[in-house]
Amino acid sequence: MVTSASPLRVSAGGSQQGSLSALPIRVGPSVLAGDLSKLAFETRRVIRAGADYIHLDMFDGNWVQGAFTFGPMVVKALRDHEPRAYFDVHLCVMRPEEYLEEMKHIGVSRVTLHFEATRDPGAAANRAHGLGLEIGLALAPETQVDEKLLSIAELFDVVLVMTVPPGFGGQSFMPEMLPKLRQLREVFPTKALEVDGGVTPTTAALAAAAGANEAVAGSSVFHSRNLRRAIRELRHGLEQGQQTWQQS
Ligand code: DX5
Ligand code: ZN
Repeated sequence: MVTSASPLRVSAGGSQQGSLSALPIRVGPSVLAGDLSKLAFETRRVIRAGADYIHLDMFDGNWVQGAFTFGPMVVKALRDHEPRAYFDVHLCVMRPEEYLEEMKHIGVSRVTLHFEATRDPGAAANRAHGLGLEIGLALAPETQVDEKLLSIAELFDVVLVMTVPPGFGGQSFMPEMLPKLRQLREVFPTKALEVDGGVTPTTAALAAAAGANEAVAGSSVFHSRNLRRAIRELRHGLEQGQQTWQQS
């Protein structure tokens, strides 16, 4: 069953890295890799196969040229089919902050904006929270984690570290993004950290060992003959990686 993130389990006595017992592990299939002519069917398939959430890539063809997917009307129609699923919308559009009210209206659970595309990310985070919407901050590969970014990231429920250039499925995971995860995890011991792009059981383990606890996966789920096994293996990769991180 797909629900909101379970509460963080933090061991008594502190919030420093090393004192954490566990962060919730979550696997979110990206339906972009499924058969887009059967979006509701594909969504139902991965929910039944054990997905924790559904990742929906809303691209406007402008922010990433040539990457044009689906918009709010389609997500609203999907919501009517799946009233309880956790919908995680990855907005790769120009001026994403202008869509917050609409995202709330169509029943999105969490919306993630790109740092690079958003005029005032801090104001967007506050507005989303005012609407009762969870909000994420996505970082494209070229974006570095520095003091300014950290102060903005603090306002968000999740930071999404893109492990491929945003735009298309089927690209290879960029291991050079792992230090960004480590930096973020050191500063934010309990914040959700998500990776997206080229995620397989092996790369999920690398990401979790660097601090990630949520993984989006398109190709490695939908191109598998056995969705349940694919999701289970991704979860296992995240769990293995998290153990490595806890021991570090
Ligand atoms: C890429 C998208 C991803 C994409 C992932 O820009 O944000 O969510 O669907 O696909 P895979 O897992 O195939 O890299
Ligand atoms: Zn995505």
